[in-house]
Amino acid sequence: MTSADLSVQIGQLSLRNPVMPASGTFSEDLAEFIPLNELGALVTKSITLDVREGNPGPRLAETAAGLLNAIGIPSKGVAQFIAETLPFYRNFTAPLVPSISGDTAAEFARLAVLLSSEPVVRGLEVNISCPNLEDDGKSFAMDPVQTYRVLRQVRQATRLPVWAKLSPNVQSIAEVALAAQEAGADAVVVANTLLGMAIDVETRRPKLGNVTGGLSGPAVKPIILRMVHQVAKVVRIPVIGVGGIRSAEDVLEYLMAGATAVQVGTYNFVHPQGMVEVIAGLQKYLQRHGYASVRELIGSVIT
Ligand SMILES: Cc1cc2nc3c(=O)[nH]c(=O)nc-3n(C[C@H](O)[C@H](O)[C@H](O)COP(=O)(O)O)c2cc1C
Repeated sequence: MTSADLSVQIGQLSLRNPVMPASGTFSEDLAEFIPLNELGALVTKSITLDVREGNPGPRLAETAAGLLNAIGIPSKGVAQFIAETLPFYRNFTAPLVPSISGDTAAEFARLAVLLSSEPVVRGLEVNISCPNLEDDGKSFAMDPVQTYRVLRQVRQATRLPVWAKLSPNVQSIAEVALAAQEAGADAVVVANTLLGMAIDVETRRPKLGNVTGGLSGPAVKPIILRMVHQVAKVVRIPVIGVGGIRSAEDVLEYLMAGATAVQVGTYNFVHPQGMVEVIAGLQKYLQRHGYASVRELIGSVIT
């Protein structure tokens, strides 16, 4: 049986298939478990301009159907990332898309400038779910105006494809997605983690050092799938879906809801070969249903 075409296009960037790791759940170590070139792209943990500690522990708490994390953005800073981490990625053909995080719009723009001069960097994911220190620490992605401001500055700082990673902790994610598109983003990534909390009843203390954290994993999938559907209906740019993916069926749901590509996060911790198996499952589904290309499925849900 002839193989179906799994390739997708995210703006100017061609991906060999629509499956890539989600920021913060993937590092160079994964190369020991899977052939990285079989992935659609390689998205790194968010990088900041300067060195950062991250949040106090405990940083992780398991819940019934998901993981709570309050890692923060521990980072060695962009200079060390360029000097020590980027050389590793030169060994791979899968496009490298570093995730960037800043306290101010100017910091995002500076990171974009610094990373744009590195040929191995093929795109930038802009993590705007972090606190905006110019606006009472509320996350940029909670406000369409702040989202526009950051994405506009990044757009002006680079010619690389720019992906805006949105927050699900908003009233109307479609409005924020439209602001990112208006500012010149090439894609929107839907979405980061949902704000949550867990308490240890023996000690009456929160299970996370930071009190609250971000929920990921199977629990969030129906919520994020709904958001992908809402966003895909209103934007012209591609949507990348991320939340709770553990199987080819999960990926298919996201594609049918309107995503052009997807990211796999928490599942990488449970099953490092998961992404490669999901890609194989996708190929099998397409063959079984007689689809020539995965692109035929994008937005194909019948409502
Ligand atoms: C331990 C951990 C660390 C994360 N770090 C980041 C990060 O640095 N930047 C970011 O944009 N998202 C980060 N995320 C969010 C994931 O990229 C993803 O949006 C989220 O986990 C939902 O996908 P999943 O349900 O497949 O895990 C992190 C998630 C986890 C679980």
